Amino acid sequence: MAFEISIRSLRKGDIAQLEAMERRFFPTPYTAWTWMRERRNSLSRTFVAFPGGDAGMADLVGYINFWIVVDEAQLHRLAVDEGFRRRGVAMELIRHMLRYLAERAVATVQLEVRQRNIHAVRLYERMGFAMQGRRRGYYEETGEDALLLTGVVNDILNARNGESRR
Ligand SMILES: CC(C)(COP(=O)(O)OP(=O)(O)OC[C@H]1O[C@@H](n2cnc3c(N)ncnc32)[C@H](O)[C@@H]1OP(=O)(O)O)[C@@H](O)C(=O)NCCC(=O)NCCS
Repeated sequence: MAFEISIRSLRKGDIAQLEAMERRFFPTPYTAWTWMRERRNSLSRTFVAFPGGDAGMADLVGYINFWIVVDEAQLHRLAVDEGFRRRGVAMELIRHMLRYLAERAVATVQLEVRQRNIHAVRLYERMGFAMQGRRRGYYEETGEDALLLTGVVNDILNARNGESRR
């Protein structure tokens, strides 16, 4: 069954929730200070997702953060609350980012993912991101490799496997 979400830009009032989610999901979490800095950074965009059609009336269920550097985007953060996973929220956030990029003629998205983060790797592959390379031992805390993936914005938007499930 389709799970409806609404998506809007990050507001200052969302930051406490983002900080709490970061602490749960990432070994090197962004702090409130990091998110304040991201809000001030003209290259950086952050979108947050809420359940239902009225953004901001409930706790947020996911978020995506990326930078636009000339004609390329770099995906830095993507997370979905544990209670709302496997309902297409991450795919919808990625599609939201891709539509935003397409409107601004940004052609490609680059990202790095931990090799053992199988869920995220599956998600990106399913959406049509392709592996470009690997940085061996990139993550110091675990010694894990970073997998480097690239997505072509229009190709993913036009592909059936990136279709919205909403
Ligand atoms: C990775 C993450 C963002 C996925 O969020 P999500 O909303 O559950 O993902 P979706 O429901 O959109 O999943 C889309 C597809 O990705 C793949 N996928 C996602 N989670 C998966 C899992 N736990 N196991 C296997 N495949 C998975 C599946 O192909 C899935 O499609 P399906 O449910 O029809 O099989 C979420 O697990 C998360 O927040 N993890 C912690 C933070 C993180 O690792 N972020 C990525 C950093 S690069």
